[in-house]
Amino acid sequence: MNKTIETLLNHRSIRKFKDTKLTTEQIHTIVKAAQQASTSSHVMAYTIIGITDENLKAELKAVSGQPYVKDNGHLFVFCGDLNRIYKQAAPAEQAQMQESIESTEQFIVTTIDVALAAQNATIAAESMGLGTCFLGSLRNDINHVNNLLDLPEHVIPLFGLAVGYPDQQPEIKPRLPIEAIYHENKYANDEDQSEIITDFDNQLASYYENRSKNARSDTWSEQMIRKYKNPIRMDVTPFIKDKKLNRR
Ligand SMILES: Cc1cc2nc3c(=O)[nH]c(=O)nc-3n(C[C@H](O)[C@H](O)[C@H](O)COP(=O)(O)O)c2cc1C
Repeated sequence: MNKTIETLLNHRSIRKFKDTKLTTEQIHTIVKAAQQASTSSHVMAYTIIGITDENLKAELKAVSGQPYVKDNGHLFVFCGDLNRIYKQAAPAEQAQMQESIESTEQFIVTTIDVALAAQNATIAAESMGLGTCFLGSLRNDINHVNNLLDLPEHVIPLFGLAVGYPDQQPEIKPRLPIEAIYHENKYANDEDQSEIITDFDNQLASYYENRSKNARSDTWSEQMIRKYKNPIRMDVTPFIKDKKLNRR
């Protein structure tokens, strides 16, 4: 197994970091790796904001309710950004671009670009011996985060990424077996996945029961049904539309 695959298969989110800040060189290496991800039509529809102000970090921690938003080696906020290209255009061209900028297609382009860049950042950080945790919890109050970061029209905060030297070694969290998620040539409409999922539920239940921190009794199916029965962050929908994205 090569080093890259080893790094990928060794991934687990880190939620406790040592009190050591990343160097500027480490931060730049991670951002450069993020930028080198494939990007739809070379749009590069993202801005990455590094948070170095401790007061701001405390505000973002309050939004997320998660201590590792503040206590980490560095905090990045990944934003979808169609503002850069829009504002470069002359007003007459902007008028012509509006329909496209506001489309669901370009919203998808933006979120994919951000996710690919962030995942590259994660892999880069992990290959450097650092740990990471994505932070969708910043969307607990997306309007407040937007205001804190002074984001203009067409720019949306999608998630944070906490990076730092791990101060814990959590067990690797199991994934669904390949048969569940990889099919060839067409969607497996006729396949009953209930047995595969029951097996996975048992595997994950055992992971939750036996893990060294935050042991609990749960299964994947129960967790997912709970999650999708209880809508969260419904203010994100009008927020995105107010940002003049995903409107048509
Ligand atoms: C977009 C995204 C947002 C996430 N948000 C959070 C978060 O707010 N807080 C957190 O502790 N973990 C967060 N996670 C981490 C997931 O919970 C984690 O990746 C998943 O449970 C699998 O565990 P693993 O990364 O340890 O393998 C997020 C992951 C992704 C991809």
